[in-house]
Amino acid sequence: MYSVYSFFKSPEINKADPNRIELGKINELPENEFKTFKLGKTPGVLINNGNGELKALSTVCSHMQCTVKYLKDEKIFLCPCHSGKYDINGKNISGPPLQPLTEFKVMLIKQKIIVSRILK
Ligand code: FES
Repeated sequence: MYSVYSFFKSPEINKADPNRIELGKINELPENEFKTFKLGKTPGVLINNGNGELKALSTVCSHMQCTVKYLKDEKIFLCPCHSGKYDINGKNISGPPLQPLTEFKVMLIKQKIIVSRILK
């Protein structure tokens, strides 16, 4: 019975890596644009800040874990729960949050954007 199961089991059934995600190619994210993603269960946003830098941040508020929203035109993150604000780099700038947003590591491998957790 086990061998029959193994024969039909596809490698695609394996769960995605909760610590790493591929977010398309660099040329698919123009300057000053962003895209949202989930790394495991953690929501995040990848921003091309227009200075030749890609930034990936968790959108989990450091105050009480509400999901913050990135406001592209203002280049800030706003938390809907208690109006906490973060700058484009995730630094807490007003409201109750005392800590910045968690930053993820961004790598470019053969033009593909890979975002992963920074393991300490
Ligand atoms: S949960 Fe974000 S400011 Fe309170």
